[in-house]
Amino acid sequence: MTMPDSIEELYREEVMDHYQNPRNFGKMANANASYHDYNPVCGDEVEVQLKIENSILKEAMFTGKGCAISQAAASMLTEEVKGKALKSAVAMTKDDMLKIIRINPGPVRIKCALLALRALQKGIVQYEATKIGMAK
Ligand code: FES
Repeated sequence: MTMPDSIEELYREEVMDHYQNPRNFGKMANANASYHDYNPVCGDEVEVQLKIENSILKEAMFTGKGCAISQAAASMLTEEVKGKALKSAVAMTKDDMLKIIRINPGPVRIKCALLALRALQKGIVQYEATKIGMAK
């Protein structure tokens, strides 16, 4: 194995590793929230599945297909959010996502990096809305 030349190179390799060996990839059997989102420009897609208990994200998994950044970001995000409170997951921003992937994808590819985060947040919002509906 060759050593990466720089820290940026190391981070890029980490993204490629998540793309080639995605963590938390697959369908979750006991998910109680999920959301499928896609980028209409390229057709890339991510479906996030969640197991939520007591307003905590107990488990997060995903399926999807698309570019290296969109799929690696989904893998890295599902690792990151396990155990997080729903409130803080919903409050995550573009900058939080950039901290997770640790590379700067540039202005065009930023949408790729945000696809999984948007799916996760929409899944949580939908889950909360259903809960409120059921409480009526
Ligand atoms: Fe489609 Fe990256 S090129 S999400």
